[in-house]
Amino acid sequence: MKAIVVTDQAAGTAGMKLVERPEPQPSINDVVVQVYASGFVNTELDWPSTWTDRLDRDRTPSILGHELAGVVSALGYGTTGLSVGQRVFGLTDWYRDGTLAEYAAVEARNLAPLPDDVDFTVGASLPISGLTAWQGLVVHGRVLAGQRVIAHGAAGAVGSMVTQLACELGAYVIGTGRAADRQSALDFGAQEFVDLETDALENVRGVDLVFDVIGGDIGKRSAGLIRAGGTLVSVVGPPEARPADGLAVDFVVESDRAQLSEIVQRVRDGRLRTNIGNVSTLDDAVAAFNRTERRKGKTVIRARP
Ligand SMILES: NC(=O)c1ccc[n+]([C@@H]2O[C@H](COP(=O)([O-])OP(=O)(O)OC[C@H]3O[C@@H](n4cnc5c(N)ncnc54)[C@H](OP(=O)(O)O)[C@@H]3O)[C@@H](O)[C@H]2O)c1
Repeated sequence: MKAIVVTDQAAGTAGMKLVERPEPQPSINDVVVQVYASGFVNTELDWPSTWTDRLDRDRTPSILGHELAGVVSALGYGTTGLSVGQRVFGLTDWYRDGTLAEYAAVEARNLAPLPDDVDFTVGASLPISGLTAWQGLVVHGRVLAGQRVIAHGAAGAVGSMVTQLACELGAYVIGTGRAADRQSALDFGAQEFVDLETDALENVRGVDLVFDVIGGDIGKRSAGLIRAGGTLVSVVGPPEARPADGLAVDFVVESDRAQLSEIVQRVRDGRLRTNIGNVSTLDDAVAAFNRTERRKGKTVIRARP
């Protein structure tokens, strides 16, 4: 099968190669998915799990990508809950060969059914951004109606989901980003926008929850905006500063079938809008990930038309 692999950590996205690899075999409790569409985030190239296995042994050449939508083509020994021919989508294990390929072996529990009226491209765009927003706001942040939420990077993949979901949950959302992102953030439902390059973030006060997708100086300054009892949720590593009288949480997203189903239902009924930018074929994927100009929205790779 065709797959995109990396072998050289120093090369960045320039080291991505389209090669022929053996089709994966399903292990116990796995399914093999014929991939129709998949997603990839550039930061994967920095994650240890892309390069080594759980015992820290070299696992290259590793197939990139951890989001997929496709059709189940085989079941492993003892696999229940999914069937051959079923449309599915989900988030795959960080340490296994991934989804920028024609087939991927995935634990069945990491997948959810993809309804017939949801396109594979849409399905592949949802797992990381949707689950990260859900887990940060609902599971870790426990956001409540009426609370004030800062959604950093509100026009980005995760931030746009955070903005929409927080609005649906009844929060007052202050989106942030660059000047060019203002309208997009407001269109996703943010009530206010802070341009991080020119506005004073410190003017925003009494915040119950900051959802940080940027980190660094922005993360540090954000801790001071949180009121007593509030929470700083980070998806970019442990916060360098913590709220004086609140909680700081950092986490890595996990797959969850029930949450995937909640997310896709919201896309079907219009409560959540996806943020898809470029759609490329597997043959063009390496070039798509190596463009130098800034691209809006998520890149989705179609492994099949
Ligand atoms: N821990 C986890 O489980 C988890 C899950 C998902 C994502 N993440 C991480 O979260 C981060 C964001 O992911 P994403 O997919 O949402 O990325 P993205 O689509 O690029 O969104 C980030 C947004 O923030 C903006 N931004 C970044 N730095 C900024 C700054 N200094 N000032 C103003 N705006 C800034 C970006 O604008 P520009 O495009 O102009 O820079 C973009 O609009 C990544 O580091 C990713 O690895 C972690």
